[in-house]
Amino acid sequence: MQRQKELHIFSPSQRNLWRSNAPSIWTPASDHPRENQAQSILRTLHDQPRWLEPYHLYDERGSQLFEQICQLPEYYLTRTENSILFETAGRIIAAAPVECIVELGAGTSKKTLHLLSEQVRQRKRGAFAPIDVSLSGLAASRDIVREEFPLLNFHGLCSRYEEGIAGIEKKLPTLFVFLGSTVGNFNRSEFVRFFRHLAESMGPKDYLLLGVDRVKDAEVLEKAYDDAQGVTAVFILNVFRNINRLMKSNFDLRKMRYHSWYNPQWQQIEMYAISTATQEILFPSHAASFVWEKDDRILVEISRKFEPVRLQKQLQFFGLKPVGHFTDPKDWFSILLFRKFKISSAEKGETKRHVKYE
Ligand SMILES: C[S@@+](CC[C@H](N)C(=O)[O-])C[C@H]1O[C@@H](n2cnc3c(N)ncnc32)[C@H](O)[C@@H]1O
Repeated sequence: MQRQKELHIFSPSQRNLWRSNAPSIWTPASDHPRENQAQSILRTLHDQPRWLEPYHLYDERGSQLFEQICQLPEYYLTRTENSILFETAGRIIAAAPVECIVELGAGTSKKTLHLLSEQVRQRKRGAFAPIDVSLSGLAASRDIVREEFPLLNFHGLCSRYEEGIAGIEKKLPTLFVFLGSTVGNFNRSEFVRFFRHLAESMGPKDYLLLGVDRVKDAEVLEKAYDDAQGVTAVFILNVFRNINRLMKSNFDLRKMRYHSWYNPQWQQIEMYAISTATQEILFPSHAASFVWEKDDRILVEISRKFEPVRLQKQLQFFGLKPVGHFTDPKDWFSILLFRKFKISSAEKGETKRHVKYE
């Protein structure tokens, strides 16, 4: 079969802001305008309580460990979401008549193949643009997409969400896909910032497909993030190896342990590194340091759990109208489809009064 004509996924003003990184993979031509990786690490580690942005977890080893987590018996999320997509991809693609599928935090895009397969079956063409900070994930995704779907144009964007989303051509009808309940890694203020930016970057013919893990029995949730083989613990603590490599710092992995629990008040799993002995952490290249006291915690990651109807109401505030809801027989996981709509300022005020953020 012949490849289709290239679709331009970047808006004209953005094209010269990206450079080729690997075949069919693009990376921002200059450093993040707001904050680079080291600045993000220093900012949140000097906050109280200390915490980290989740994207630092995904160096090459972190990405491999996450792939292992997806196979664990306790980690029902990937299996459940995959089975929903397997069943419903045809309906989702039929409901979202788009030319481009942009996946946020795509990893290796394995589950997304169900959607791509339907895009090719129903429309015979399209572009696929996964966005991820993990180059190894994007390369794996590229190889499989090129092999299985030669009719699709592949453009991987190796960047953070904000840069990748801003690059996409607004005139191209696009389905934004955000799976794996990755949205649950945002805290409340990041969540609002993320959706405001995403909605502003969406064109009038765009859709969003969001996969979210639901509030459920605490025991099931806690096991999913504290597996018997200890892979999640290794994944979470690996972030300090990555930070040591990036910043020549001296976190001692022998002097820390992993702890996680489900916080029912905030409806979130919290994943911590706890120092088992006082250690002075030095960042020689930034002339910075802090004392990590014994028993003090660093919040490495959260995973919020959602109630789908409430989430649908919240996202209306950003001009995202719910048009589909797909779930599994146990109601453990939800895949929500939204369509971008224009809201007048009067309606926005109306929506504001009815939406409660928690
Ligand atoms: C929880 S994994 C989910 C992977 C895949 N979507 C799935 O459902 O299995 C999160 C993914 O988002 C990527 N990621 C995390 N923070 C990111 C950010 N700020 N910008 C871009 N990618 C990010 C990670 O590299 C990782 O591949």
